Amino acid sequence: MSCRLKGRSFLTLLDYSEEEIRCLLEAAHKAKKEKKSGKIFRRFASKTLALLFEKRSTRTRCAFETAFGEEGGHPVFLGAGDIHLGEKESIEDTARVMGRMFDCIMFRGYEQKTAEILAEYSGVPVYNGLTDLFHPTQTLADLMTMEEAFGTLNGKKCVYIGDGRNNVARSLLAGCSIMGVHTTIVAPEELRPDREFVARCGTIKKAGVKIEITDSVDTGLDGADVVYTDVWVSMGEEEKEEERVRLLTPYRVTETLMKKSGKSETIFLHCLPAVKGKEVTAPVIEGSSSRVWDQAENRKHTIKALMLLTL
Ligand code: CP
Ligand code: NVA
Repeated sequence: MSCRLKGRSFLTLLDYSEEEIRCLLEAAHKAKKEKKSGKIFRRFASKTLALLFEKRSTRTRCAFETAFGEEGGHPVFLGAGDIHLGEKESIEDTARVMGRMFDCIMFRGYEQKTAEILAEYSGVPVYNGLTDLFHPTQTLADLMTMEEAFGTLNGKKCVYIGDGRNNVARSLLAGCSIMGVHTTIVAPEELRPDREFVARCGTIKKAGVKIEITDSVDTGLDGADVVYTDVWVSMGEEEKEEERVRLLTPYRVTETLMKKSGKSETIFLHCLPAVKGKEVTAPVIEGSSSRVWDQAENRKHTIKALMLLTL
């Protein structure tokens, strides 16, 4: 299988076809095997990567830095407050300058528009490392982890439970729909993904894929192969804490909730960081169905694959 992805940005995942995501996943499985074999590659030698962070990160930063650096590339971390992005200098001008100095750019921040401007004006691939609206590199790792667990994605059922309107839920819904995974979002009315976005996922989904949005834990969880949750309060929404606890406590992932799938092999995923005792209990995240550490590791292999194919 070959895909022409050179020069492409990765901003939302919605513009990637099933075949293109398949290429990324195959490259990620291969990159993981290569890493475990101990072979040394220098595929990013003499290349530079700018890492722009307006929000904090552990996994995304470490995945990009180590994936790029261990293959001979030079990642440059630029945290909030280090550069003039949007303050004193327009995002467009910063992008133009970065495009002259770097081979690719990763952006983590608030506005999706910033990632889009960076891509438009820099002329180099831009990777969305999380915005308020999307977290597409997370979804690649999620799909890879599901594939490792089940050997296939086709026809599996992924249930995301919790804040259904956040970046992780939206990207997961899009990625699963494209790749043939039935997806259910279980969330209270107030925290459902917006209708327009769900309708868009309906237009890009693989034939036969079912998308369901419900507030019912019982019907939503039935038949789940994957139960996925994320924090109740995303970065930048800290003032919503009280309201979220009130709305989402009935949606906490507990051992009892996991059993509602009716399947013994159901796995638990979480993008991390997790607030144990809030969106998920310790016995679930530490239990035998949890794949969260594989999932975190897979961030690195999928991100390496993304850079290998687009650079
Ligand atoms: N899952 C994820 O993006 O983690 P970080 O916020 O630590 O990068
Ligand atoms: N929804 C979370 C994801 C963190 C990786 C956030 O935006 O904070």
